[in-house]
Amino acid sequence: MELYEAIYKRRIVRDFTNKAVSDEVLEKIIDAALQAPTHDHLRNWEFVILKDKKDKEYALQFVKQGIEPTLEILKKTLINGTLQQKMYAVAMPRQYSMLYNAPFVILPFFKSNSGVMNPTSISSLNPVSSMWCAIENLFLAACAQGLACSMRIPVGEEGINVAKALNAPDNYLLACYIGLGYPSCDNSVEQIKYSAKEKMHFGKW
Ligand SMILES: Cc1cc2nc3c(=O)[nH]c(=O)nc-3n(C[C@H](O)[C@H](O)[C@H](O)COP(=O)(O)O)c2cc1C
Repeated sequence: MELYEAIYKRRIVRDFTNKAVSDEVLEKIIDAALQAPTHDHLRNWEFVILKDKKDKEYALQFVKQGIEPTLEILKKTLINGTLQQKMYAVAMPRQYSMLYNAPFVILPFFKSNSGVMNPTSISSLNPVSSMWCAIENLFLAACAQGLACSMRIPVGEEGINVAKALNAPDNYLLACYIGLGYPSCDNSVEQIKYSAKEKMHFGKW
């Protein structure tokens, strides 16, 4: 697939078909992630991969605990609103299933430093920024393979709990959870459309 086609086709999805993804394709996608720019030239990123149901249940236990109390309220308040609210109404009830039902769950960890959680400038966040360059590469590579990704940001203590449960070193943080698989057809969430022209400011804002 051509690069621009992958960029325009890439979407976060939350429902997958049962079709399996091969280990070979998974490796290709992780390798694409590793080609991303990195602030310290070191690419301090590690990817924990979950395939077996038991492993997923274990690693995703904190997602389940975190979302259940909010689901009913979200379902009632967010239907029929703005496009953003509609997206939440689709997304929130699927935070667990969109990971658990994906053929692979990828957990990208990055090496942290004291500045990440107490930033004094944007550069304090370089480890996070670099990790997200890698994650976007991963999303685009998945799209180029005819696959798609779901994605959740760990909330509150979730990330720390997952890292501990999976024996990640203390200085590594979980950036997000990623589900990888073949998207089911009815996955489209309406987008707010922007044109490049309305976002460009020549000379001054
Ligand atoms: C930083 C970031 C955090 C996100 N967190 C979540 C999340 O916790 N759960 C979720 O379902 N989607 C999450 N998303 C996905 C967004 O909902 C999605 O990217 C957005 O609606 C635009 O849709 P698109 O990616 O299909 O273009 C997140 C995306 C980003 C970039």
